[in-house]
Amino acid sequence: MSRHILLTGGSGFIGSNLVRFILRHRPDYRVTNLDCLTYSGNPENLADVEKDGRYRFVHGNILDRPLLDTLAKECDSVLHLAAESHVDRSILDSRPFVETNVMGTQNILDAWRHAKGKAGRFVHVSTDEVYGSLPLERPELKFTEETPIQANSPYAASKASSDLLARAYHHTFGMDILITRCSNNFGPYQFPEKVIPLFVTNLVEGKKVPLYGDGRNVRDWLHVDDHGEAILTVLEKGTGGEVYNIGGNNERSNLELTHSILKAMGKGSEMIQPVADRLGHDRRYAIDATKIERELGWKPTRSAWPGALDATVKWYVDNPKWWQRVKSGAYREYYKQQYGNR
Ligand code: NAD
Ligand code: DAU
Repeated sequence: MSRHILLTGGSGFIGSNLVRFILRHRPDYRVTNLDCLTYSGNPENLADVEKDGRYRFVHGNILDRPLLDTLAKECDSVLHLAAESHVDRSILDSRPFVETNVMGTQNILDAWRHAKGKAGRFVHVSTDEVYGSLPLERPELKFTEETPIQANSPYAASKASSDLLARAYHHTFGMDILITRCSNNFGPYQFPEKVIPLFVTNLVEGKKVPLYGDGRNVRDWLHVDDHGEAILTVLEKGTGGEVYNIGGNNERSNLELTHSILKAMGKGSEMIQPVADRLGHDRRYAIDATKIERELGWKPTRSAWPGALDATVKWYVDNPKWWQRVKSGAYREYYKQQYGNR
């Protein structure tokens, strides 16, 4: 079956990897990437597919209703990823998180409902952070789809609000909406404010790595292409109205992660700089992905540790041009050079 997907946030980390994954693995699909290019949106992430006739970039905001009304008529499915995504930024200023993640999601849901009614599949990409935090002392506990929503950071609260809006639009209007809640992703093209690219690029630059608090916080790491394949699986095989957890069954403390990065780069533990903890820092995330594995037949195949982490570290070490342009801000000029001032 051919599809024309409206993918929001396709110039960010997961979105750009997903666009590339779709074009590579689904020859019958077309993708329209709607992205307003915030600081984390970087069209250079997709420079290699710009000339593919099945790909189209639309520079626009999910808050722009007339634009969404037009795109909703042109496309048959939505993968909704556009969001403010960084917890630390949400602690400094939560307003853009509410505007994009809550109001933007409400806007695209309304546009989609107006254009499609109950038809037209809509996958809302949520996060495991909506579930809150698990205790280190209870390693047997994991987040299931039935775990109550208990968002702790302003970022997580804004994602939880959008997640609940998506659920409510299915329940109230019968729309064909599915929700995914995924754990921490790693891979190429991640903005170097997130822990893995920040630490690797700091080390290349001879700087220390700022480890928050006691370093014992745990995350469940999944390769971004395993996430991409799971999102496509949900789009193609999922049941409307359902929530699907996605995770790598790959829990690591930040200390363990940091030592793995140091080892991959031939650096010692003197490069660790303990710093003050993140406010409200969630202790542990761990996903139970049994439902998507059992019902839809997905499982991670690209996240095996430490090989997959080492390959990601190598990608950043081998691609200094990409992240140096991000860290210096030069990437902001790329769009103007390619597309002018549209
Ligand atoms: P990112 O910050 O790298 O990318 C976000 C993209 O959205 C950027 O290209 C940005 O320009 C765009 N965007 C932001 N506001 C917009 C708006 N108002 N209109 C149009 N475009 C806008 O984020 P990411 O890490 O790629 O995350 C993508 C999605 O996946 C988010 O919804 C996030 O909550 C979710 N998620 C992320 C992870 C993770 O580990 N990174 C895990 C689970 C879920
Ligand atoms: O779990 C899914 C979530 O994963 C997504 O919803 C978010 O969009 C994504 O940003 C990510 O959130 P985290 O807060 O877990 O990711 P981050 O890379 O910011 O931090 C990972 C861990 O590393 C966390 O425990 C905080 C710690 N950390 C982070 C930074 C940036 C440090 O110790 N030092 C740092 O400098």
